Amino acid sequence: MNPLPLKQPEANARAVGATVAEDVLLGLTASPKTLPPRLFYDDAGSRLFEQITGLPEYYLTRTERGILEHNASEMMRNAGTPLTLIELGAGTATKTEVLIDALLKRQMQAVFYPIDVSGSALRVAEEALEARFPALQVRPLIGDYSAGLSQMSRLAGRKLVLYIGSSIGNYEPSEAGELLAKIRRSLSPGDALLLGADMAPSATKPVTALLAAYNDAQGVTARFNLNILTRINRELGADFDLSVFAHKAIWNEDHSRMEMHLESKFEQVIRIADLDIAIHFDEGETIHTENSYKFTDEMLRDVLGNGGFLLERTWTDERGWFGMHLARVD
Ligand code: AVI
Repeated sequence: MNPLPLKQPEANARAVGATVAEDVLLGLTASPKTLPPRLFYDDAGSRLFEQITGLPEYYLTRTERGILEHNASEMMRNAGTPLTLIELGAGTATKTEVLIDALLKRQMQAVFYPIDVSGSALRVAEEALEARFPALQVRPLIGDYSAGLSQMSRLAGRKLVLYIGSSIGNYEPSEAGELLAKIRRSLSPGDALLLGADMAPSATKPVTALLAAYNDAQGVTARFNLNILTRINRELGADFDLSVFAHKAIWNEDHSRMEMHLESKFEQVIRIADLDIAIHFDEGETIHTENSYKFTDEMLRDVLGNGGFLLERTWTDERGWFGMHLARVD
């Protein structure tokens, strides 16, 4: 592999220059207390997230894969070949194989640029994809979206950016619009975006399905949420006792989002040695660790419009729980 090293590792809109220490200082001295979801993804957190994607209650990954499997050739036809594929947060790109397969039925060869902060995940993707598709060139880009996308703006020919997995839902709507605008700036008229987004509750999607997906019976999501405290203990010398914090996942109807919190079971004071601070928690006080927005059609059109895209086509599963949206540069 000959990856192009990029600037700033980033997962989830890390402000340029923000470190774990800055995130924690800012978040835990705020009221209400918050921590940004990017802190979930150390090695242990990334492994726990992998486990979440296979849980019976966590329908998102499985449902999105099903939509891709049923519609990949139509998606490629609608996107308009020949195409170069770019994937943001590609990881090991396992879901992307079905799209690449469909693409290579329409064109003799293709180039795929997976962008991710994890070099090891990209190596796995490259090896698997090149072994399976001799007509595919894989050019991994290790680093954050911004740096990867600015390189993409220099590419000639029609491009399709894949942003799947409903990661867009972990951004605040205004940040999501900014991210899409950044993607838009790397594209030209005729280029497109394929966006995977989890859908809001509806007549066919009960809120209970969402609550179960973020409160799984095996407690993997709870471990994923609590791991953020383990990380702060390890990296900043804090003394969080995980047994006195509880995982909470709730549906916030007003904002159309699932929220994850860590609730202090007692009044307590936590010391963070490296920051030289003590943080007081009331009994029942929470740290808000994640928002996961669930999209109505209107929210989607808004966020795409704010990014400079026009929604062209949507594919969903039979139950209408998850959507994949093809949007064109406006
Ligand atoms: C990565 N992201 C789309 C996941 C989600 O569903 O919002 C993260 C996650 N949080 C709890 N479970 C999974």
